[in-house]
Amino acid sequence: MLDMATLKADKEVDAIMTMSEKQIEALGFTEHSKRHSGIVSKWSGDILRSLKEPPERVLLAEIAGYLHDIGNCINRKDHAQSGAILAYKILTRLGMDSTDAAEVMMAIGNHDEQYGLPVSDISAALIIADKGDVHKSRVKNNITNVSLANIHDRVNLAVERSFLTVDDKERVITLHIEIDTHICSVMDYFEIYFNRMQLSRRAAEFLNCKFSLIINGTTLL
Ligand SMILES: [Fe+2]
Ligand SMILES: [Fe+2]
Repeated sequence: MLDMATLKADKEVDAIMTMSEKQIEALGFTEHSKRHSGIVSKWSGDILRSLKEPPERVLLAEIAGYLHDIGNCINRKDHAQSGAILAYKILTRLGMDSTDAAEVMMAIGNHDEQYGLPVSDISAALIIADKGDVHKSRVKNNITNVSLANIHDRVNLAVERSFLTVDDKERVITLHIEIDTHICSVMDYFEIYFNRMQLSRRAAEFLNCKFSLIINGTTLL
């Protein structure tokens, strides 16, 4: 079975991820680097592990999380679908069983809120992990005046911390966010992340869980 260390050390994976980051930076979007991939990989695995899923499913979720944004090396538009096909090719070359590679492909192809839906446990965990990673370090534009920054940068800049917790007994997956409300309001957060939170809720339901959102200690969902 393919392991995370082999995947991360692969030259083709590294080249594609480096090029994805270059394209996203050129477009002026928030950071989609190996930091984001690493966190999404870890959180995707953590969700399924906490829900007592078998280790093989946890590993597939970690792999899907690590590769989920590689389509950005082709074009931001439809990056979920293009990245899914790229990932299938890479994983089968690395010796992964075709059914497992197809599971990862399906999860990656469904991670984006525009067309994606939770279609498997791996896909659901990936959606929740990806939408949960909001942090000020993801802002790449050089902001000299926060009030003039676009809303995406402003909301990300305001987030001091975000993390997920999973209560497997109560079946609740919670996204905790700490926002500096001097930089953006909770409404600003919802304005840009409403679709992502809706998709996260559907993903949690797929895992037979409730999705909860806590911002600055207040439960909003
Ligand atoms: Fe993405
Ligand atoms: Fe992502």
